[in-house]
Amino acid sequence: MMVKITTGRVVLALSAALTLGLGAAAAGLVPVAASTGHWKITDWFLHWTMQNSARTYSAVQTPKVIRDDTGLVSAAGHFRQSCQVCHGAPGEEPSPVMQAATPPAPNLAKTAGHYTDRELFWIIRHGVKFTGMPAWAGKSRADEIRRMVGFVRRLPTMTPRQYRALTRPIAGAPLPQCAGCHGVDGKGRAQPDIPIIAGQDAAYMLRALQAYKSGKRASAVMQTAAAGLDEAQMKAAVTYYARLPGLSHGPVTDRHAIVAKGLPEAQLPACAQCHAPGKAAPVITGQRAAYLAERLRQWRGEDTVIDAHKPQDPMAVIARRIPEEALDDLAESLAAPTGQTATGTTMP
Ligand code: HEC
Ligand code: HEC
Ligand code: HEC
Repeated sequence: MMVKITTGRVVLALSAALTLGLGAAAAGLVPVAASTGHWKITDWFLHWTMQNSARTYSAVQTPKVIRDDTGLVSAAGHFRQSCQVCHGAPGEEPSPVMQAATPPAPNLAKTAGHYTDRELFWIIRHGVKFTGMPAWAGKSRADEIRRMVGFVRRLPTMTPRQYRALTRPIAGAPLPQCAGCHGVDGKGRAQPDIPIIAGQDAAYMLRALQAYKSGKRASAVMQTAAAGLDEAQMKAAVTYYARLPGLSHGPVTDRHAIVAKGLPEAQLPACAQCHAPGKAAPVITGQRAAYLAERLRQWRGEDTVIDAHKPQDPMAVIARRIPEEALDDLAESLAAPTGQTATGTTMP
């Protein structure tokens, strides 16, 4: 017997299927157990969907520059504290508990090659729904994500020894959970993105750690590092670093004119007005130039955001008044060790 296909019958069949599906879900019959894994076809379909989504969205939702190979230490240290548990790392197995998830996290040394830098950037920034792959914690920190892309790209050729040297868990050193990035001497292992904290003002550093922990100061790297610290541990850590020889407020006359005089026509105050001994502002002389410049740019925020919508705290407003063409020079001259000009020659 032939059944005639009419619109009415199609609608009826579809609603029956929907009702059955909903009924099965309501009765608890849809298997969500991770222990059984996905069927092969589901697994293929979900991964295929994820790859297509990453390809499409990464073409429109990523900034121009998407990879930075200069900050491997902080990226590797962050990978160790946040990603290794699921993905494993050179010479390090992933946690068996995490590998029992559906889907289990892939070994990035094997899969990184399947993606372009732009796709990696997008996946690391946004995460993947329904898989446990988290989004980046400090959303505004594209610079941190760029460094992670640079790190993930290195994974296929990285040896366990190289990974250990980068993350360097220093046995027996004070504050080993900080020293992997900041060094035992607090000088940041000569990395452009890791600030020198030796000799920095203790009260300022304590405020910084609290702001990282609460997420007020955006940084996935430092938020994770500060998350496990209580007030007493924070105080002990900043006291240790503040006492090490390192930063100190240097004279300002031998630096950029903006440091000593500001830029009255742009209503930019002299930096030395606040960044001086006895004031509440942190030491910025002798700090790493790349870090200073990046921090000032973070405060300026994205060009597309209207000024009134940007943060109004004093440093954010000051940073926006620094002319773009002067910013890198200013950072360089601040970074020069006390008593030296930016070119490194000692002043008389
Ligand atoms: C809770 C476990 C978990 C953590 C933590 C985690 N991931 Fe993932 N990640 C996954 C899973 C699962 C996938 C696979 C997603 C898929 O196939 O759809 C994935 C996929 C990826 C991919 C795409 C590569 C591929 O083969 O699918 C990259 C790149 C990646 N993760 C990087 C990272 C980085 C960097 C971190 C740390 C900041 C991190 N992941 C933390 C579980 C995790
Ligand atoms: C994985 C690398 C890493 C680890 C581990 C780490 N840090 Fe950091 N730290 C950084 C980076 C990178 C920054 C700069 C973040 C930014 O741009 O805001 C930073 C910034 C800071 C600052 C702010 C300095 C300033 O001038 O504003 C303090 C204070 C600090 N870290 C203390 C610590 C302490 C204490 C620990 C140990 C509990 C620690 N860090 C662990 C990488 C790390
Ligand atoms: C009105 C006082 C004031 C003036 C003027 C000022 N600053 Fe600041 N600055 C601060 C304070 C306070 C902080 C700490 C902010 C915080 O806790 O987040 C700071 C923080 C900074 C930092 C971050 C340091 C670090 O370790 O992360 C940089 C870089 C900086 N200032 C640069 C400058 C420059 C360059 C100028 C001159 C153009 C300047 N500041 C002028 C008060 C000032």
